[in-house]
Amino acid sequence: MEKKIRVGVVGLGHRGRELLKLSATFDCVEIVAACDIRPVNWYEQQWLSTSPLSDMFPETTFYESYDKMLNEAGLDVVIVETGADIHAEFCIKALEKDINVLSDIPNVASLKEAELLWNAAQKSEAIISTGANPNYQKFTFLLNEFYDKGLLGKPYCMEAEYIHWSLAGSAERKHLNENGDWRKLLIPIRYCTHSLGPLLTIVHEELRYVSCFGTGYHSDEPDSIRKDDMMCAQFRTESGVVVRLMRNGRCRAKIGHHNYRVFGTEGYMERVERMDKMVIRYNSMKELDTDLKETGGEYMPPAYADNEKAVGHGGMDYAMLDYFYKAIAAGDAPPISLKQGFEMTLPGIYAEESAKRNGQVLRMKYPWDEDWSTEIE
Ligand SMILES: NC(=O)c1ccc[n+]([C@@H]2O[C@H](COP(=O)([O-])OP(=O)(O)OC[C@H]3O[C@@H](n4cnc5c(N)ncnc54)[C@H](O)[C@@H]3O)[C@@H](O)[C@H]2O)c1
Repeated sequence: MEKKIRVGVVGLGHRGRELLKLSATFDCVEIVAACDIRPVNWYEQQWLSTSPLSDMFPETTFYESYDKMLNEAGLDVVIVETGADIHAEFCIKALEKDINVLSDIPNVASLKEAELLWNAAQKSEAIISTGANPNYQKFTFLLNEFYDKGLLGKPYCMEAEYIHWSLAGSAERKHLNENGDWRKLLIPIRYCTHSLGPLLTIVHEELRYVSCFGTGYHSDEPDSIRKDDMMCAQFRTESGVVVRLMRNGRCRAKIGHHNYRVFGTEGYMERVERMDKMVIRYNSMKELDTDLKETGGEYMPPAYADNEKAVGHGGMDYAMLDYFYKAIAAGDAPPISLKQGFEMTLPGIYAEESAKRNGQVLRMKYPWDEDWSTEIE
């Protein structure tokens, strides 16, 4: 029998639990270890679960200490699902032990962390892949196909929004925050990877300049942190591609999460989501076509549409894990590299700083740049 990939998961909150269960459906995977500083997440039934993980995975060893798990579990892979502001230290520790990593997004919370993680990845014999599931949605695949066929031409302007509605005092909000405060604390524009990731797959240069504004805070809710209700950033590449992004803190309407528009020199493609209606529209002058064509905007990546096992955010999660485990089994490069991860993550860090400086245009640097610095000028 082929050797199975020995997987451990750190962070057993809402996302960690889902990716652990979904990983267990892969024949090539063995979930040997799981770790959380809150043992209730292992031993007790949690929100949206039918039974405790300890009952579902009796063969898996639970650890309260991440270091102990790395030292003792003999892992091939660790999936990092701690809060969005504390991924880097977990990734670095695993890479230092040559354990492969799938890290949820954003990869890092600061430029200093970016430098440390970049250096750790260069030295490691293991790979780190960025767990950016929206890069596996139908829209991303169609956009790349459209671009590769020359039907879009050169993209020159793009727009994206990720608006997640929030209702004070709701059960969902209570559950989403029960494992820690990172959701309340995270600056909205820092959670930009879902929006930038898919768009950057057809832009072969980094975002270089940013200006960002926040709306300020308009709530007297007792459980809220005083952060911007909405943040609006504009980015530009060196060659002049402009990307506009909206990210919310507060939103009282269920208007739909992920919207994208891409303007190219030959064509156009958009994904518009208004809750129950998700649609992708496109046209290309290469086909002398002025009418917009329309297709379903569901998340399911086309190649997985007939796969009954493809679940999790409409199938994107399954596709992401499938690409990752196939790369691990074959000894291939990571499906979404750390470089790609930083290209979609660091713009959020610079955008936050620009908003603090009243929209000042900042030049963005990346760890592979010659003039890289952890200080923002
Ligand atoms: N890609 C997506 O679709 C998607 C969706 C939701 C969340 N996420 C990401 O997934 C990650 C986790 O989100 P969540 O909703 O599960 O958060 P969560 O707060 O529910 O879970 C995080 C868990 O990490 C644990 N943890 C913290 N410090 C630890 C430590 N030192 N050792 C071991 N465990 C520790 C916490 O106890 C908690 O249970 C975040 O980075 C978030 O951005 C991604």
